[in-house]
Amino acid sequence: MGYVTLVDIFKHPITQKYLRRSGVHHAVKVTEIACRLATEREENPELATKAALLHDMGHFEWYREGKWDYEEYRKHDIHAIKGAERAHKLLIRLGENRVKAKEIAIAILLHTDSYLPFSVKEFRTPLQQIIYEADEIDELPKGGHHYLKMEREEAIERLAIIDKKVQTANNKSAI
Ligand SMILES: [Fe+2]
Repeated sequence: MGYVTLVDIFKHPITQKYLRRSGVHHAVKVTEIACRLATEREENPELATKAALLHDMGHFEWYREGKWDYEEYRKHDIHAIKGAERAHKLLIRLGENRVKAKEIAIAILLHTDSYLPFSVKEFRTPLQQIIYEADEIDELPKGGHHYLKMEREEAIERLAIIDKKVQTANNKSAI
């Protein structure tokens, strides 16, 4: 089983389909922030960046007249549940290690609790907390972060840079 990179994940047609809905710009920005936070906090940057890249892949298109309908979204949203499931299925399909795939899926499941009748604030692990915070940092009012555009080539270039950083961190921790 080979190592699965962020670029491998990004290029997969399933990722493309879902990230086009929730925003490639937001996905890449949250991945960069998660990489920085994981490095600062000595958490696993590989798990943090993979979870960050896929954290919003469970979004449904809550559009009304071409605009994101925030009220509809708040009422019906379960994107963290769907995202965790989709990300897990995709990662396994790409040949990801099953232990890592599970950790990534759970970090996605708990990256927000806006869909739950209770808070999970007290219960997040340091890794799960990173995805939550990275997402918050890139958030704009009324879901504006979902509209920002980024070209495919730019996304691949930026993810390849993060892949290199993660690889360096992985090599260091293996010594
Ligand atoms: Fe998000």
